[in-house]
Amino acid sequence: VRRLFVIGIGAGDPDHLTLQAVKAMNQVDVFVTFDKGEQKGELADLRAHLLATHMTKPYRVVEVPDPPRDRTPRRYDTAVDDWHARRAELLERAFAEVDTTAGILVWGDPSLYDSTLRLVDRIRERGHDGFECTVVPGITSVSALAARAATVLHTIGDPVHITTGRRLRADGVTHPATVVMLDRDCAFADLPDAADLLIWWGAYLGMPDETIIAGRVADVAGRIVATRTALRAAKGWIMDVYLLRRDSGR
Ligand SMILES: C[S@@+](CC[C@H](N)C(=O)[O-])C[C@H]1O[C@@H](n2cnc3c(N)ncnc32)[C@H](O)[C@@H]1O
Repeated sequence: VRRLFVIGIGAGDPDHLTLQAVKAMNQVDVFVTFDKGEQKGELADLRAHLLATHMTKPYRVVEVPDPPRDRTPRRYDTAVDDWHARRAELLERAFAEVDTTAGILVWGDPSLYDSTLRLVDRIRERGHDGFECTVVPGITSVSALAARAATVLHTIGDPVHITTGRRLRADGVTHPATVVMLDRDCAFADLPDAADLLIWWGAYLGMPDETIIAGRVADVAGRIVATRTALRAAKGWIMDVYLLRRDSGR
């Protein structure tokens, strides 16, 4: 590969795609995609729709199978490192087949809980550093949530903490405003300070099944858990993100 575009495509709504992303897509000859686990049907459909709608030149799509991942490892960091190493190897092989410009379409924004740019660094570290990499930002699921909830993330002058369900369960709420991603088992439902926390929960943001529930955690946690369980069962997969904000008089 001579040039690489890593392009954020937004969190699920085709209209999230920016004009900059469309311009970058139209410089790409070969799109490399990872075949992503459970929600792959809908991801692939969105990607195909974006390409069909916006590409004004010929292009190819090369699919790389996503290597299986241990979801219940004893050491989380080494399991992820091992998974990244296997993904980087596959990506490196795909890049070797492209002698012009490649592109990777990344869900949301490439800077937020996405490994694509780490994989690119690994490939460079393995000596394949002769290509230029341009990153195009995308609308994150966090921006999509805040917009749909019509709220600001932070309380005045305070920081915003972005974390995962796993870390929320381990650390509890440590900041006045906390955004939680990648939560597979509703860590918000077990927080000791539920009476003092407000939640804005959004699933499938920007997609036809978009669902939003907001309120005091103590009041709405049960409804969110039940809704999440039903939606996940109906579709076979779910993507959800939420904001927790302290309600201590601010
Ligand atoms: C691997 S991370 C990717 C984040 C992405 N790079 C971004 O900028 O939003 C996947 C997590 O993002 C969140 N997410 C992504 N798209 C979403 C959507 N449309 N609705 C709700 N949550 C979403 C969920 O927390 C999901 O577990």
